[in-house]
Amino acid sequence: MTNWTEIAKLEDIPPLGSRVLVTDTMEIAVFRTADDQVFAIKDQCPHKQGPLSQGIVHGTTVTCPLHNWKIDLASGRALAPDEGCTNVFPVKIEDGRVFLSLSVNEAAA
Ligand code: FES
Repeated sequence: MTNWTEIAKLEDIPPLGSRVLVTDTMEIAVFRTADDQVFAIKDQCPHKQGPLSQGIVHGTTVTCPLHNWKIDLASGRALAPDEGCTNVFPVKIEDGRVFLSLSVNEAAA
């Protein structure tokens, strides 16, 4: 079962930018793309834990600010030739409000 938590209004997240959500166990970067899709991924690059929330968004990819790995926001995977994966969390938008589910992935982590 999915427990949705409201975390922000869409307008609170800058287009092509992010907000950081701090939980008890980690920081989660919540990104907004140019076409108003929202993705939530652990704010830690699979390379050397760079803060992905400070990276630059292109399409549905973020470029890590430390060494320029490109991470797919939907899957959390590094794009080739790099390899690695960080956690992603389900998000949904309803009436301009952004909801996040932690339960699914915390159970899997
Ligand atoms: S820490 Fe992200 S590319 Fe190195």
